[in-house]
Amino acid sequence: MKAVVYQEPFRVSVQEVPDPVLEHPNDAIVRITSTCICGSDLHMYEGRTAAERGIVFGHENMGVVEEVGAGVTRLRAGDRVVMPFNVACGHCPNCERGRTAFCTEVNPGFAGGAYGYVAMGPYPGGQAELLRVPFADFNCLALPAGGEHETDFALLADIFPTGWHGVTLSGFEPGDAVAVFGAGPVGLMAAYSALLRGASEVYSVDRVPERLSKAKAIGAMPIDFSEGDPVEQIMDRRSGRGVDRAVDAVGYQAMQGDHEVPNRVLEDLVRVTRSTGGLGIPGLYVPSDPGGPDPHAREGYLMLPFGRLFEKGLSLGTGQCNVKHYNRGLRDLIIEGKARPSFVVSHEIGIEQAPEAYEKFDQRVEGYTKVIIHPNR
Ligand SMILES: NC(=O)c1ccc[n+]([C@@H]2O[C@H](COP(=O)([O-])OP(=O)(O)OC[C@H]3O[C@@H](n4cnc5c(N)ncnc54)[C@H](O)[C@@H]3O)[C@@H](O)[C@H]2O)c1
Ligand SMILES: [Zn+2]
Ligand SMILES: [Zn+2]
Repeated sequence: MKAVVYQEPFRVSVQEVPDPVLEHPNDAIVRITSTCICGSDLHMYEGRTAAERGIVFGHENMGVVEEVGAGVTRLRAGDRVVMPFNVACGHCPNCERGRTAFCTEVNPGFAGGAYGYVAMGPYPGGQAELLRVPFADFNCLALPAGGEHETDFALLADIFPTGWHGVTLSGFEPGDAVAVFGAGPVGLMAAYSALLRGASEVYSVDRVPERLSKAKAIGAMPIDFSEGDPVEQIMDRRSGRGVDRAVDAVGYQAMQGDHEVPNRVLEDLVRVTRSTGGLGIPGLYVPSDPGGPDPHAREGYLMLPFGRLFEKGLSLGTGQCNVKHYNRGLRDLIIEGKARPSFVVSHEIGIEQAPEAYEKFDQRVEGYTKVIIHPNR
């Protein structure tokens, strides 16, 4: 089958790889209808992780069941399904608590597994014609048959739940004012979730014009950080008051001018949030970043205004999203017409266009915001 394969920094290729096979009675093979390119893939694409040549990318996967193992009871060939980016077993202590992003069974020596991602276990990604899904009864969410809501449902694999999770991590309550840093796909989903959940005001910070206009279109207040300190811009609009909640949907590759400043957004969150407010940090931070700008950052040590955080009595939450905790309810919001997360989707392509799409999405040009690959079209 064809798959998107990582070659070297700033280069992926589409090439033939062996078809996946059932390796365990609990596996299913899914024929991919939609698979998204994620900002998380860009960390690997840019050579900012230990990812090696040959990884098949793709952790945001949706499709139709092709074949199931003898131990699979709830699925059959022909079922339309979407898979959380997390690979989880369903029965370890963390899975039992709903913390499926920290499954202790699927990636020895590590809490958490994913498809197509460095250090997340031996699970090839779904930017390919077919995908092997382990613990398939647990990891597949059933969808209504047919082709309706294809692009909305595809976002249930990661960014819609992750944006929602970022808001939850911040301790959000209806009526809160929220500042979301980053208006990439995750940040836009966080802003959208906060609005769906009854935020009084949402600020959306970025500098990419197409992304800021998407934020504005859903009812958030766009803040362009290239025009000056975003915290001051938000405070000015609020007569000097901080927001109740702030969400980091940027992570360790945060920019300031032309430079990466890994603690930029963490510091901004502490500055912009009122005392006793909360910070949600779904943006990615890594324990080892060989390409980091200084020796501390290379070991995952970042400077934080911890004194200020203490003084303000802020709470914070971070980590990978436990997608399974949210995806059923968010699916039903889509089915009932209450949520249309696909407003972030800017490009739908065949698998052959993937190398070009990676390049443009990485440069954040030409309106590339969220790309969905349809490998079997
Ligand atoms: N926790 C999880 O489970 C999870 C899941 C998916 C993605 N992520 C992470 O979330 C982050 C965002 O993902 P994405 O797909 O939206 O990525 P993205 O790279 O498309 O978006 C990041 C956005 O942040 C903006 N940005 C850069 N510096 C900024 C700054 N100083 N202030 C404000 N905005 C700034 C960029 O212009 C860009 O639009 C990534 O770090 C990704 O790895 C985490
Ligand atoms: Zn993703
Ligand atoms: Zn588990």
